[in-house]
Amino acid sequence: MKKFLIVFAVSAFVFACNSSDDQKPADEKNADTVAVTPAITNERGLELIGASDCTTCHGIDKKVIGPAYTDVAQKYENTPAVIDTLVNKVINGGSGNWGNIAMAPHPTIPEADAREMVKYIMSLKK
Ligand code: HEC
Repeated sequence: MKKFLIVFAVSAFVFACNSSDDQKPADEKNADTVAVTPAITNERGLELIGASDCTTCHGIDKKVIGPAYTDVAQKYENTPAVIDTLVNKVINGGSGNWGNIAMAPHPTIPEADAREMVKYIMSLKK
């Protein structure tokens, strides 16, 4: 019985790894369908957000100094062009879309990481 469980756990693990590999290229090709990308991509974005200073100013669904991420997701269309704009905003900062308080620039965050963060944020669109 114990052996069976171990085999089962290992195959579940292998299966999970395979499915994430399979979905990566499709995810990159269909950047405009991020809302339905697998949870793995979004969790990476959430992890990165948690590891940076974002939560000082943003709640997932609560305005702090910056807008709630759910509000950001509702405000914009989930398209590649919008994602590019928001990635740029995370890296370079800026103001004027939500008020006069500026979004802090993050020049040390790699673009790919900023993209994962923004994809996570846009995945919150209802
Ligand atoms: C010092 C506070 C602060 C920090 C830290 C911060 N933000 Fe912001 N953020 C803001 C403010 C204020 C705005 C609204 C800017 C505006 O009005 O255009 C904003 C706006 C945004 C927007 C929407 C931009 C737009 O044009 O509508 C996104 C996306 C965002 N932040 C993501 C992040 C991410 C990801 C991080 C962490 C890497 C982060 N923010 C860290 C304050 C902050």
